[in-house]
Amino acid sequence: MSDQGRVALVTGGVQGLGAATVRALAARGFAVAAGCRTVRDEAQAFADESGARVYGWDVADFDACGEGIAAVERDLGPVDVLVNNAGVTRDVMLHKMSRADWDAVVDVDLGSMFNMCRHVIGGMRQRGYGRIVNISSVNGQRGQAGQTNYCAAKAGVLGFTRALAREGAGKGITVNAVAPGFSDTRMVAAVPDDILQRILAQVPLGRLGEPWEIARCVAFLASEDAGFITGATLAVNGGFYMT
Ligand SMILES: NC(=O)c1ccc[n+]([C@@H]2O[C@H](COP(=O)([O-])OP(=O)(O)OC[C@H]3O[C@@H](n4cnc5c(N)ncnc54)[C@H](OP(=O)(O)O)[C@@H]3O)[C@@H](O)[C@H]2O)c1
Repeated sequence: MSDQGRVALVTGGVQGLGAATVRALAARGFAVAAGCRTVRDEAQAFADESGARVYGWDVADFDACGEGIAAVERDLGPVDVLVNNAGVTRDVMLHKMSRADWDAVVDVDLGSMFNMCRHVIGGMRQRGYGRIVNISSVNGQRGQAGQTNYCAAKAGVLGFTRALAREGAGKGITVNAVAPGFSDTRMVAAVPDDILQRILAQVPLGRLGEPWEIARCVAFLASEDAGFITGATLAVNGGFYMT
């Protein structure tokens, strides 16, 4: 079977890397649901333009994830592909970090892995097919000052990915991670320019990634074509961190 008509759900899917992923999956023929925290005018405009359906819930809230996924499945059918992309940063050095800064990032960036996967994994196992792609970060691999919360969460995503890959392998489910480098989105626009320039000086390709350059890798891992890849971390970072 091809990917045509399969149902894909992308969290954080109305802007940045998530929106590019929604477009890439739609171009491959998936029926796509795009999640965001709150459906505002721009999210609805994105839905009209991309052909995706847009849904709003907080991925840090386990019950809200269950209700949101149920709504997607009522509208489109069972979720074949889940892209856990929603993420936030609260950058501050550890000696100044509040408990709220820690919780906000860990609950969204790592907690969402459980909150989302727990609600789709049973159905994927029953149907004998699934693709899960979790968005980590180069900073979860190499560490970044001012981001102990984010780096811990994004490194946790990689362990979660490998463990779930082993659980799903006998049931036709692949679970992989993409670890983007610094890319041209709202999240990076928040990084002070002097810091960003210092980082870019260490990137062999010498530039930010374009959202579509990350998205096409996610779409590949979400496709039938990637059926022999599981538990992998695909680094898409301009050479910033080589493993
Ligand atoms: N950009 C980069 O350089 C870079 C590098 C490495 C990894 N990443 C990772 O890639 C992913 C996408 O990043 P991005 O740069 O595209 O970020 P972005 O432009 O800030 O978009 C983040 C998306 O996540 C959604 N989101 C945030 N918190 C949420 C919550 N609690 N519940 C539901 N949705 C929530 C946002 O929805 P709302 O719009 O409704 O708030 C938004 O759609 C993130 O996981 C990020 O950590 C990014």
